Amino acid sequence: MKATGTANGKIILMGEHSVVYGEPAVAIPFPATSIETTIKKITGPVTLDCFFYHGPFSQAPERLLNVTTVIMKTLEKLQQPLENFSITIKSTIPAERGMGSSAAVAAATIRALFNYFKKELTTACLMELTDISEKIAHGNPSGLDTAMTSSQSPLFFIKGQPIIPFLLNVSAYLVVADTGVTGQTKEAVNSIALLSQRSPEKTTAAIHTLGKLTRQAKSAIEQNRPADLGVYMNEAHHLLDFLGVSNKELNQLVAAALATDALGAKLTGGGRGGCMIALADNKTSADRISAALLKAGAVNTWIHKMGED
Ligand code: PMV
Repeated sequence: MKATGTANGKIILMGEHSVVYGEPAVAIPFPATSIETTIKKITGPVTLDCFFYHGPFSQAPERLLNVTTVIMKTLEKLQQPLENFSITIKSTIPAERGMGSSAAVAAATIRALFNYFKKELTTACLMELTDISEKIAHGNPSGLDTAMTSSQSPLFFIKGQPIIPFLLNVSAYLVVADTGVTGQTKEAVNSIALLSQRSPEKTTAAIHTLGKLTRQAKSAIEQNRPADLGVYMNEAHHLLDFLGVSNKELNQLVAAALATDALGAKLTGGGRGGCMIALADNKTSADRISAALLKAGAVNTWIHKMGED
């Protein structure tokens, strides 16, 4: 007996961090990276096999607390004991790089367990369980990563409000580049919280402007104005840098993309490492930007077509 569950990575186009403060974010599913969890029948104690750990579930390390907790909570919901199966998690989403790997691991594993025990999983239940894992991984998550794990389409997301799916109607390519440096979402989120206590006015103004740029970016996407979208991305990156969540590697890659053909470039996700994104007018340009990013130190790049040429 065997069952699987999958989930995609995601890319935040605009609105990371400001989304925690009630401003909107725009994010897209990123199927170029994904996670697959497989549950197999065995006899005896549950085993866990993933990138960070292979061994008995009961001895999994502290860094996997979000995963082990969500497994326990899912079994509680399913009213099943923790025995007689193995869990294997295979991922092509680089961990801690702002691509939502923690939420995707949770979602893929919850889906696999529900499939294995042949129970129907509602979106509400998936989101409730994924959120438990995200709270452990991120402390004070906006819910955006959780929402993205059950979405096939781009989302306009405001914390605590109904999620609005929309079409990526922009003729452009997105180049995603990994700095190779582990991002620090939790620390970055906490540092903005501290900054807003020390310099409330400046921080609130920056967060508010990030929200405005996100709304403008959504209109630029809907009205197929890639050049304007690029401008909004650049402005967002400057503000995120001002808020202290960029770093040297991200700024170097942003500069390299802009020095090539990029219409705009910014960090994506929690920052302080992780990934950045650059907007390209066409595929040739995207290829050139990707090559420039690799030359400037990116450890990996992905090219994603956003709409029609
Ligand atoms: O680093 P990621 O992909 O988990 O994205 C975090 C996004 C933040 O806005 C920084 C935090 C949040 O909870 O929305």
